[in-house]
Amino acid sequence: MTAAINIPASRTNFNVVSASVSMSPPTSTIHERLRRDSIGLPAIRAPRVLHPIENEDLRLLLLENISQEAVKAFRAQGFHVDHFTKAMSEDELLQKIGSYHAIGIRSKTKITERVIKAASKLLVVGCFCIGTNQVDLLTSAKAGIPVFNSPFSNSRSVAELVMSEIIALSRQYFQRAWELREGLWNKQSKGCWEVRGKTLGIIGYGHIGSQLSVLAEAFGMRVVFYDVLNIMPLGSARQLDTLTALLNDSDFVTLHVPELPETTNMISTEQLVQMKKGAYIINNSRGRVVDIPALISALESGHLAGAALDVYPAEPGSNGSPFDDQLNSWASTLRSIPNVILTPHIGGSTEEAQRMIGEEVSSALGRYLNYGSTVGSVNFPEVDLRAITAEQGTHVRVCHVHNNIPGVLRQVNEVLSPYNVEKQYSDSKGDIAYLMADIADVSPTDVNKLRELISQTKPNILTRLLA
Ligand SMILES: NC(=O)c1ccc[n+]([C@@H]2O[C@H](COP(=O)([O-])OP(=O)(O)OC[C@H]3O[C@@H](n4cnc5c(N)ncnc54)[C@H](O)[C@@H]3O)[C@@H](O)[C@H]2O)c1
Repeated sequence: MTAAINIPASRTNFNVVSASVSMSPPTSTIHERLRRDSIGLPAIRAPRVLHPIENEDLRLLLLENISQEAVKAFRAQGFHVDHFTKAMSEDELLQKIGSYHAIGIRSKTKITERVIKAASKLLVVGCFCIGTNQVDLLTSAKAGIPVFNSPFSNSRSVAELVMSEIIALSRQYFQRAWELREGLWNKQSKGCWEVRGKTLGIIGYGHIGSQLSVLAEAFGMRVVFYDVLNIMPLGSARQLDTLTALLNDSDFVTLHVPELPETTNMISTEQLVQMKKGAYIINNSRGRVVDIPALISALESGHLAGAALDVYPAEPGSNGSPFDDQLNSWASTLRSIPNVILTPHIGGSTEEAQRMIGEEVSSALGRYLNYGSTVGSVNFPEVDLRAITAEQGTHVRVCHVHNNIPGVLRQVNEVLSPYNVEKQYSDSKGDIAYLMADIADVSPTDVNKLRELISQTKPNILTRLLA
C-alpha cells in the first residue's frame, strides 16, 4: 500500500523523505525548489559600480595588437582607448606615455625606468602575455603602478601540444612525414608504438602538468609524477618520492617546472642515464631545464628514442630569424638527429589562449582602475575588499599606496577618524604597502578633503578615491 504524505516542498529534507513509505513524484527540480524557497529571504545585495573620482576620462594605450575583445571591453567601461598593432620603442613611449592612465603591452614593448619616470599619469600596466621581464617591476611598484599578467591562460594549449608530441614521437611520424615531403616512401612499424599502456612521467605537477595528467589517462597511459610539493593526484596518477624513481619508471618524461637555480640542467647526463633505454623526453617548460649537449649524446648513442623541444636556452627575438650555431652552439647537430621534434616556443600559442589572456588581463586592469583590487598583480601586495553595495550610496573607497614604513596606519586612521570605516585591509610587499578602506557617509565636499589629507602624509605614493 502506498501512503502519500503531503509535505510542502520547502520543508522537505532528507530525513523526512527517507521516513516516508513512498512519496508522490516531485513536482519540481531541486534547483526550482531552492529558487522558490529563497523568495521571502532578504535579496542578495547588489554590488555598486565604482568609478575613480578624479580620473573620469581614463585613457588607455594598447600596443602590439592586443585583442579587439579587450578594446571593446574597455570602451564599454567608458575608457578612451588608443590601439596600435606594433610595439613602441623607448623613445616613442617617452613621447606618448605622459597622457595615459594605463598601458597594455605584450613582450616586445619595454617599460623601462625612463618610461615609468615619464609616465606621470600612469596607474597600471597590463602585460597581455605570460612573462613580465619586459617591465621594470621594482620601479613600477615604487611609482605606485601595479603590473598584471596572465601566467596560466595557456596551460591547456601546452598540455594538448605535449599529447600530440607523445604520439608523434612514439609513431616517428614527424620523421615519416618529412621523408614523404622529400619524396621518399618509407612505411614501417619497427620502433613505432601505441601510447596506450605506456608510462608518462611528469616532472612538475602544476597547472600544465596536472592538465596533461588527465589527458594522458584518457589515452590509456599510466601517469606518475614528481614534484617538490605534495600534491593530490588527479584520476589514477601517482606521485613518486624521487626524480630517480620517475626516470627509472617512465617511457615518456615531460618537464613542466619553472626556471629556478635548482631546475637549471635538472636533466643532464646523470639523469638521462637513469631513463629507460628507448624512452623519450619532452621539454615545453624553460630552455635551461635540460642540458642539451647531454641530451644530444643520449640521442646519438641510441639510449633515447626521441625528443621534443619547444624551448631553448637562447631563442631568436623575431620570426624569420635563423636558429643556428651562432644562437646555440649545438643547434645544427640537434637539427640533424632523427625523431627529434623542434618547435619555436609555440606551447601556449593558440587563439584560445590569446583570447583568455585578453579577457584575464583586461578584467584585472578594470578591477584595479574601478575597484582598487590588486589581486593577481606581480609586483604589488595583493589586496581586495568585498563590494560596496548598491544601497551604500555615500560610501567611498580609499586606495592608498605608500612606503612600507612604521606609523603609516596611525597617520591614515587619524584622517579617517571622523568617519565610520566600514572595512579596511592592508598588506605589504618589500618596500611597498597598499591599504584599501571603505568609508561610510562621506559628503561630496569631504571627498576631495579626504584625498588631499591622505596624499599629504609623508609615506604617500598614490592615493585614489573611488565612488
Ligand atoms: N612552451 C610554452 O609556450 C609555455 C607556455 C606556458 C608555460 N610554460 C612553462 O611551463 C612551465 C610550467 O608552467 P605551469 O603553469 O604548469 O607552472 P606551475 O607553477 O603551475 O607548476 C610548476 C610546478 O613545478 C613544481 N616544481 C618547482 N620546482 C620543482 C623541482 N625542482 N622539481 C619538481 N617540481 C618542481 C612546482 O611545485 C609546481 O607544482 C613554466 O616553466 C612555464 O614558464 C611554457
